[in-house]
Amino acid sequence: MTDEDDIARGLEDVTVAETRLSSIDGEAGELVIGGFPLAELAGNVTFEETVFLLREDRLPNESELASFREDLASRRAIAPETRETLRAAAEDGLPAMDVLRMGVAAANLGGDADGAGGTDEKQELGDLSDDALTAIAVMPTVVAAYWRYREGDEPVAPREDLGHAANYLYMLTGEEPDEAAVRGLETYLNTVIDHGLNASTFTARCIASTESDVFSAVTGAVGALKGPLHGGAPGPVLEMLIDIHESGDPEAAVRERLDAGERLMGFGHRVYSVRDPRAAVLSDAAESFYEESGDTDFFESAREAERVGVEALAEHKPGRRLETNVEFYTAVLLHGIGIPRELFTATFGVARVGGWTAHCLEQREDNRIVRPRARYVGETDRAWTPVGER
Ligand code: ACO
Repeated sequence: MTDEDDIARGLEDVTVAETRLSSIDGEAGELVIGGFPLAELAGNVTFEETVFLLREDRLPNESELASFREDLASRRAIAPETRETLRAAAEDGLPAMDVLRMGVAAANLGGDADGAGGTDEKQELGDLSDDALTAIAVMPTVVAAYWRYREGDEPVAPREDLGHAANYLYMLTGEEPDEAAVRGLETYLNTVIDHGLNASTFTARCIASTESDVFSAVTGAVGALKGPLHGGAPGPVLEMLIDIHESGDPEAAVRERLDAGERLMGFGHRVYSVRDPRAAVLSDAAESFYEESGDTDFFESAREAERVGVEALAEHKPGRRLETNVEFYTAVLLHGIGIPRELFTATFGVARVGGWTAHCLEQREDNRIVRPRARYVGETDRAWTPVGER
């Protein structure tokens, strides 16, 4: 066969699994998480409830939620050896995602993680489920410890009495966060917890399909998320929005970028041909947050940038609808909450690990090792010659 058309480059439009975790309708601009339309869920529940939902396919009742929160909170600590690795990496100037990858890989050190402590045996489903909770619980601790070291401070120990989102903010700053920031972060974490078979989620499923352990799957997924084609856009979006804000003339600033041949960051999406539903949810969350904080300047300027951006792109690319994607209001919201832009992608990981681990469990419930094929296009009849004669 020589026809390239039968190669599914990037596995585009290839269905390789059934999932009940999330559903995307790119044309209608709809995202369903665990059966709930995104807007029904994201602003109403805590991150712990969404994690429970993905694992159990239902929301917890009050007592289930209390014990689930307690269980997750009890797994937040990381071993001193892991902290030392993070310190060395931060002092060495490594970026957050490199350090998150190292931290997750070392997250089973010194703890009670099952079936992953240097074993090469199959990880049983129960152990995988248990370690999945540990992976979710330690991610914020790893990111916050790295950040504290990077800023020349000592890490702040996690507090079990705080919820997952509140504790993350607390470990970053050492101060108890206000309610509005916690609400904003919960909404963000819920919004991006899962999104079909994106590259990092597929990576996690591939690793899980080999019956490897959950820390390996999450480490691989962090590596995939790190790539600028996947998780790297909110930082550049924020830089663009700050430039536009400071210019004082959003319309001119937007058109200048397009005239210079630059892309408008935070606009356009491979799957959504309309506005990304996550942008709508995050825009509402950002609006509430900025209103409550009493300073809406930056939010208003971002909203204006969205309006003029959509208009300018319609002229620039007639026939293609380019609207805001998830990264646009992620940048606005996380910036408002006080998450440093260097941690935007790592914070994405703090949320997405809920999806990654749920996909690992789903994969293992009905497992078949992932093994696609590649068409060989190289030589077939080379003859070996000794090195000195080549
Ligand atoms: N600004 C200006 N022009 C754009 C934009 C944009 N944001 N997005 C697409 N276009 C134009 C391209 O220049 C291209 O024009 P051409 O045909 O003349 O070369 C055309 O629209 C199609 O572009 P593609 O890159 O093929 O469109 P695709 O749907 O594959 O890309 C993508 C989606 C990568 C997100 C793109 O819209 C983009 O680069 N956006 C800006 C970066 C960004 O916001 N990334 C985060 C995405 S969210 C996420 O992935 C989680």
